[in-house]
Amino acid sequence: MKLLALLAFTGLLTLGGATPVAPTRVNSIYARQSNGTNTTAPCAQVSQAIYSVPDRTLTPTVPAKLAYDCINSVPFNATAAKLILQGLPPYLNWQSTLTALKSPPAEYASKVQPPLDILGGLSQMAADVDAGKFTSEYDFGWTLYTLIQSAHDGHFAYIPDSVGSVFAFGRKVPLVSVSEDGEQLPSIFAFYDVLGMQFKNITYTPSPVVEIDGQDASEFLEQWSQCGSLQDRDALYNNVFYELAQVSLGSSGSGTGSFTGGGRGRFVYPGATTTLKFANGTEYTMENYARVQISFREIESGEDLGEWFTKFAGSAAQVESTGTVAAAAAAAPGYPAPVVPGPGNLINGFYIDTPGYEDVAVLQVPNFVGTAAYEIGFQKTTQEFLPKALADGKTKLIIDLQANGGGTILQGYDMFKQLFPSLDPYGANRFRYTEAADLIGQSYSAYASLAPRGTGNYSIRQVQNAYFDYHMDMTVDGEPFDSWDEKVGPVETNGDKYTQLSRWNLSDVLISISSGGINITGYGPLANITGPPKFSSENIVLLTDGYCASTCTIFSDFMTKQAGVKTIAMGGRSNKNPIQAIGGVKGVNNYAFSYIQSLAMNAVQLADAGLKSELNSSSLRDYYDNYIFARAAGSPGVNVRDGVAPNDTSGVALQFIYEEAGCRLYYTPEMTVDATAMWTAAADAQWGNSGKCVNGGGYGKREAEEVTTKLKPRRVHISQAAALRKFEAFEKSFDLETECHMSGDGFMDP
Ligand SMILES: *[C@@H]1O[C@H](CO)[C@@H](O)[C@H](O)[C@H]1NC(C)=O
Ligand SMILES: *[C@@H]1O[C@H](CO)[C@@H](O)[C@H](O)[C@H]1NC(C)=O
Ligand SMILES: *[C@@H]1O[C@H](CO)[C@@H](O)[C@H](O)[C@H]1NC(C)=O
Ligand SMILES: *[C@@H]1O[C@H](CO)[C@@H](O)[C@H](O)[C@H]1NC(C)=O
Ligand SMILES: *[C@@H]1O[C@H](CO)[C@@H](O)[C@H](O)[C@H]1NC(C)=O
Ligand SMILES: *[C@@H]1O[C@H](CO)[C@@H](O)[C@H](O)[C@H]1NC(C)=O
Ligand SMILES: *[C@@H]1O[C@H](CO)[C@@H](O)[C@H](O)[C@H]1NC(C)=O
Ligand SMILES: *[C@@H]1O[C@H](CO)[C@@H](O)[C@H](O)[C@H]1NC(C)=O
Ligand SMILES: *[C@@H]1O[C@H](CO)[C@@H](O)[C@H](O)[C@H]1NC(C)=O
Ligand SMILES: *[C@@H]1O[C@H](CO)[C@@H](O)[C@H](O)[C@H]1NC(C)=O
Ligand SMILES: *[C@@H]1O[C@H](CO)[C@@H](O)[C@H](O)[C@H]1NC(C)=O
Repeated sequence: MKLLALLAFTGLLTLGGATPVAPTRVNSIYARQSNGTNTTAPCAQVSQAIYSVPDRTLTPTVPAKLAYDCINSVPFNATAAKLILQGLPPYLNWQSTLTALKSPPAEYASKVQPPLDILGGLSQMAADVDAGKFTSEYDFGWTLYTLIQSAHDGHFAYIPDSVGSVFAFGRKVPLVSVSEDGEQLPSIFAFYDVLGMQFKNITYTPSPVVEIDGQDASEFLEQWSQCGSLQDRDALYNNVFYELAQVSLGSSGSGTGSFTGGGRGRFVYPGATTTLKFANGTEYTMENYARVQISFREIESGEDLGEWFTKFAGSAAQVESTGTVAAAAAAAPGYPAPVVPGPGNLINGFYIDTPGYEDVAVLQVPNFVGTAAYEIGFQKTTQEFLPKALADGKTKLIIDLQANGGGTILQGYDMFKQLFPSLDPYGANRFRYTEAADLIGQSYSAYASLAPRGTGNYSIRQVQNAYFDYHMDMTVDGEPFDSWDEKVGPVETNGDKYTQLSRWNLSDVLISISSGGINITGYGPLANITGPPKFSSENIVLLTDGYCASTCTIFSDFMTKQAGVKTIAMGGRSNKNPIQAIGGVKGVNNYAFSYIQSLAMNAVQLADAGLKSELNSSSLRDYYDNYIFARAAGSPGVNVRDGVAPNDTSGVALQFIYEEAGCRLYYTPEMTVDATAMWTAAADAQWGNSGKCVNGGGYGKREAEEVTTKLKPRRVHISQAAALRKFEAFEKSFDLETECHMSGDGFMDP
């Protein structure tokens, strides 16, 4: 297995918290072929459906109901369930918000998400195992998945194999929520209708979706939206729909929205069919589908699949599925040609090609990287774009952060410093205090002290680059810590124990190990970059769709709190209330479980003779077992660092602090097909006289207004042929699947 293999190297290879590489597949397990004795068993039908289709170039799909019946036919294994429930708490104890989730601040509980007792939920599950309450392996897996997903923390996930390894569900019709004129309440439309209005000469008048499966459509979608990983409800609602920025990320984004099985929507069974009822009375029923993510060659029954879980577990490892994602990060429909293109569509510099907006530049940043090959090019894009925009007479800057799930933490710091060289990014953070973290710090700090910082062999330098060497990081006042004991605290606040607040030392000689290889603007080799900002605070605005998480929240926090830059939030639920601009996890660092395991094992290995046997019989032993890894899809992880606001006296992590955006704009039909339409609306709202910020109306129930949006046919000002080409580019994107390829130490998987 991967973890043992890593330890066999130097024991230090997973330092950095990056997602581990999937182990290679063992071919011999596919020897057994279906003998066709029970062709009615749902899993046998799945197997037959796959192998009766000769074209294996696409991920095979089956009806959602068939997949659901198959996964539900896996018998419950109580022994295995107990192993999982016992294996999780040592890792969950690292979740920095574990205690705060149980009793969050009142405003968070009322406006964002209700309280949640994770460890209590696990105990309840253990009792339910004993009481024989679980009817199938999937029943157990789904209960566990939803328990952790209910934290609505994009850094915090454990996806049991029964939920995430075998099937991914979807619906074929992407939706959008748009306001006809930017003022009326938004209504829901099939995106295909909006496209047709914009690019094709359609003969019918599109009508809004008023009911889904017999329920009020926006209520249905608000409930559905809760399947997502964001905490903010308006951001979650936006993530239901087709959005240009998500699509621009290809399979690394949340595809065409959670309604179609993008992002975490893929884990939720959508029922056998979905019925849309339109305002004009027409009903449309679609059959929902499931993508099959593993080889079913040897699987004829639920029992076989259960055996596969326990024997060959390790999730995607065994994915034989020759399938490839249909439309990868290729084109980004709806965007103009960038003036300064960045790598992988993760960052692009644009001008606005609409008369009247000659002075506005747009830096579109839907990600903060996490792919080694893109790190340097990512930094360079901003380095080139800002001076070029100024030279070209741009005086205003929109930073479009829509769909930004984060990436490399220090890229967020660097971008802030490129914009505001004279400001010192604060970024205080803390871990939850645990015995394991303390023991690891004792061992790491001792080992790291064998050589001066930045010297010594590879192993020593890697250990010196971990939080658990007290020489790494500095105090909130910018002073060094004197010892591990000083750094680890614990500090008691709001009913839990945390480490002392610390901040990144951006001048650290080892910083490039954490920064993805870049030098950070304003520090080290780039310390000569100082002086006033290129664009003043009033001439910059952050544009978000609420999907701003992790490193994106770090960057936004610096921009808003330290530089005083304003925010504009798009979309949101169909009401007139203010919304938040930052709706994703505000925790400032995630660790994969596998990184925590390597920390624990390395701590034992690296300890000197005196400490070694003590550690080897301590709580660090709880991390030796691999069973929970084997039973998870992907790479489970936790949020390990809380972000804490400058001058905070409350002890409350940023994650639980509610902050309204400066302005809210509804999406209009044009904005769902043309990014420029969003940028001009943002510029109007921020700097023009004709802005349409939605008026705040206080919190409460959605106003019971009639659905008012009507799509008026509008002729686009481009040739019919060009319009059709654009139409086709959008249509192609309908096959997008969420398949995260990015990582980073401050990143949220879609
Ligand atoms: C064929 O399938 C039946 C029913 O699942 C099973 O009992 C039998 O062992 C299988 N035969 C072979 C040769 O795998
Ligand atoms: C075949 O599968 C169906 C559906 O799971 C099940 O009801 C039936 O008992 C199975 N028959 C045999 C002979 O195993
Ligand atoms: C149940 O799970 C345990 C632990 O993984 C495994 O040893 C056992 O074989 C499983 N039982 C069945 C029937 O698959
Ligand atoms: C649009 O369709 C109508 C009716 O089918 C037709 O009369 C008209 O010429 C078409 N317009 C264009 C620009 O194709
Ligand atoms: C009603 O609206 C739907 C969705 O826009 C459209 O597909 C359908 O053709 C319309 N039906 C009628 C009778 O106009
Ligand atoms: C690195 O240096 C330390 C301290 O001198 C030593 O214990 C360790 O074996 C060295 N590791 C390697 C891989 O050379
Ligand atoms: C930050 O790192 C630099 C270079 O390694 C070092 O000189 C400085 O003392 C460190 N600052 C603190 C506060 O530890
Ligand atoms: C960082 O700075 C060092 C020292 O000046 C230089 O050698 C290196 O090329 C720089 N790295 C990047 C990515 O610019
Ligand atoms: C700062 O230093 C870097 C590398 O030493 C150099 O490439 C750059 O031109 C300098 N910038 C300024 C503004 O002096
Ligand atoms: C830890 O203890 C186990 C026995 O419980 C032993 O097998 C193992 O070698 C020890 N590991 C280290 C690093 O000392
Ligand atoms: C924090 O407090 C200091 C001192 O009162 C003040 O100068 C600074 O602006 C405050 N920072 C923020 C982000 O509010």
